[in-house]
Amino acid sequence: MTSRSDDGLTTKDPATPNQLQQRNAMEWPPHDNLRILQQMRDEARQGGGVKRIQEQHDKGKLTARERLNLLLDEGSFEEFDALKSGRGGHPGGGREYLSDGVLSGHGTIDGREICVFSQDFTVLGGSLGEAHSEKIRKAMDHAVRVGTPVIGLNDSGGARIQEGVDALAAYGEIFARNVNASGVVPQISCIMGPCAGGAVYSPSMTDFVFMVEESSYMFVTGPNVVKSVIHKEISSEELGGAMVHTTKSGVAHFAMPNDILLLREVRRLINYLPSNSRQRPPILDLRDPPDRTDPALDYLVPFNPNQAYNMRVLIDSILDGEEFLEVHARFAPNLVVGFGRLGGETVGLIANQPAILAGVLDNNASVKGARFVRFCDAFNIPLICLVDVPGFMPGPEQEHGGIIRHGAKLLYAFAEATVPRITVTVRKSYGGAHVVMNSKHIGADMHYAWPTAEIAVLGPRGAAEVIYRREIQSSADPTATLMEKEEQYRKTFVNPFLAAKRGYIDDVIFPRDTRGRLIRTLQFLEDKETTRPNRKHGNIQL
Ligand code: HXC
Repeated sequence: MTSRSDDGLTTKDPATPNQLQQRNAMEWPPHDNLRILQQMRDEARQGGGVKRIQEQHDKGKLTARERLNLLLDEGSFEEFDALKSGRGGHPGGGREYLSDGVLSGHGTIDGREICVFSQDFTVLGGSLGEAHSEKIRKAMDHAVRVGTPVIGLNDSGGARIQEGVDALAAYGEIFARNVNASGVVPQISCIMGPCAGGAVYSPSMTDFVFMVEESSYMFVTGPNVVKSVIHKEISSEELGGAMVHTTKSGVAHFAMPNDILLLREVRRLINYLPSNSRQRPPILDLRDPPDRTDPALDYLVPFNPNQAYNMRVLIDSILDGEEFLEVHARFAPNLVVGFGRLGGETVGLIANQPAILAGVLDNNASVKGARFVRFCDAFNIPLICLVDVPGFMPGPEQEHGGIIRHGAKLLYAFAEATVPRITVTVRKSYGGAHVVMNSKHIGADMHYAWPTAEIAVLGPRGAAEVIYRREIQSSADPTATLMEKEEQYRKTFVNPFLAAKRGYIDDVIFPRDTRGRLIRTLQFLEDKETTRPNRKHGNIQL
């Protein structure tokens, strides 16, 4: 043990390490400010106090800090602005809290850096004022500068009423940052309590929204306003709960039963994503042989073309470890989207689901698919498209609901994507939907078809009715003639071989070999480069 003597020379300190430790312990805090720091930290950690923490727990909710501890790797959270407090000086005043109702900082998920904020409902209902907003903005700004995903845990009564227009300005600053970060770093929102009024627009501009069932809600105007304006009684849950937003509105992508499961699912999602748009997603070797074949796939497509089957069987079979993270599972389930791995590499899957509405493309499916494709493209995630689509959904409901506008979104999203794009046509692929579902004509890099593929302008019934109309009408037995013509059309046109002859299909493959072929093709396309004309930005049909 060495120390400096008065004359500046280094001398031996006679104290043993144990003695030194004891002496230090007795002298602590050696300076008042250390004591003050400890007190301030303790105060900040208390949030709104024991009673409010208990109330939070009684509602089945965790506190802001408990949530971060579960979300991030143990001990990895580094907080900033723990000692920052509200501005005060607003009309109405009120108590000022250290931390101002939100924790923000950075930590890691499976060793990768993440920027986070977590609103503390125990402090003024997690309401957002100036300082609170600045802390969130700091996390977002760092995320963009450093290139990390940003995850927000939302649990807030909205704009802090006492801070008036400053609170509105504070929201605007966050919204602008959401837009700035879009496509630069992944943004994830977890709704773990109230989220109302204009406050909903920040999460809705992020890439993925998670909600906790029965303890979270999102709406622009709450049940009281609904009652006074349109005289309708409705609960918060019915108006904007997790079930509504994951099934009807499509605002939320994931609903989980409680805080713990939700945070675990966020960690799972992060594992598929790159940290920013300059990087590729992390490779994870699940030790699943790339050349693994699955003979059962040869029997997946039923002999009867009108019989349904579950596309998830194919998805699960081809992916590494049969692991698939489905996104938006309850919204427009006639189109399945989500993440998996092929040969260790993250891929985004977009697949028609013949088990639901025959896999037809409708308004919701088109919008869901378009947004997913654009996310994958922004973050260097190759697209795998599995096709079994009878067409776009007919009828006035869809037409008047804007199937032309919404279908155009999916078409646009695929056509503008520059990541590797592979399509496998499993069964039906008719008309406009054939072109829209990542066909070669709009830029797919490789298009395979199973021998069971049906690629044509119209399905056999519709086609026969149009091109043999006169013959059918003048026949003695129109029904028999229609069936005969339908069969004739099926034999002539409904197969993958005509498209393969033209080179529109790169190869017709045995179903059992799909996984191996996809992995080899992904390796081949790894360094693909695509140029686009210079422009400020395109004008997608929003
Ligand atoms: C200030 C708020 C607050 C707010 C809640 N609190 N919301 N303080 N500004 N927006 C305070 C409460 O006064 C209370 O403090 C504490 O937080 C807990 O609230 P409770 O009402 O006791 O909790 P609970 O019963 O669970 O109800 C939660 C709630 C309710 C549904 C969120 O508090 C509520 O309706 N709050 C107002 C919501 C609102 O109208 N916000 C503005 C939305 S418009 P004390 O000390 O009394 O316990 C908006 C515009 C954004 O956000 C615009 C962006 C452009």
